Amino acid sequence: MHKIMVELHQDHIHLSRLLKMLDRHVKVLQNDGDPDFMMMIDIVEYIRNYSDFYHHPKEDHVYKVYKSSVNEGSHIVDGLLNEHQQIPKVTVAFQQLLDGALNGSIIISRAELSERISNFIDIQMNHLNVEEEKLFPLINKTMTSGDWVKVEAQIKDKDDPLFGNTVEKDFEDLLHMIEN
Ligand SMILES: [Fe+2]
Repeated sequence: MHKIMVELHQDHIHLSRLLKMLDRHVKVLQNDGDPDFMMMIDIVEYIRNYSDFYHHPKEDHVYKVYKSSVNEGSHIVDGLLNEHQQIPKVTVAFQQLLDGALNGSIIISRAELSERISNFIDIQMNHLNVEEEKLFPLINKTMTSGDWVKVEAQIKDKDDPLFGNTVEKDFEDLLHMIEN
């Protein structure tokens, strides 16, 4: 498997882990407990900062080169490229909801908040599962070293601010919670 695919797969493992942490808040809300808003806001900030701004554009480069040289699964590629355009808007809306619920500018019932969190998780997980189950196997099977040279020429490396070598200050608390 090409190094870029290993990295993208690793990003998915990290993202799934964060989405599971978010899912625990759904359970907390349903059981009348107090959700940890700061943790949820940090998770969504990471998703914006890394998934939306770096991980998806990196996949876009791979998908576009794949599509230019392989016909199989082109409708899957088109669907995913389109979702990469839509998902950042979903992240921003969800971030605004959490910020508003925390500072009191948005009044939302526990039931509605837990439904909005579940909905956000579903969108992220469904997207990631299509990539992992449908497209990544095709990419791994068909892309040539020449294709990868084209992809590599377009990708700029960025360290993961949470799971990378150097943890950004804004994510130190979140990392601490993940490790515990
Ligand atoms: Fe992805």
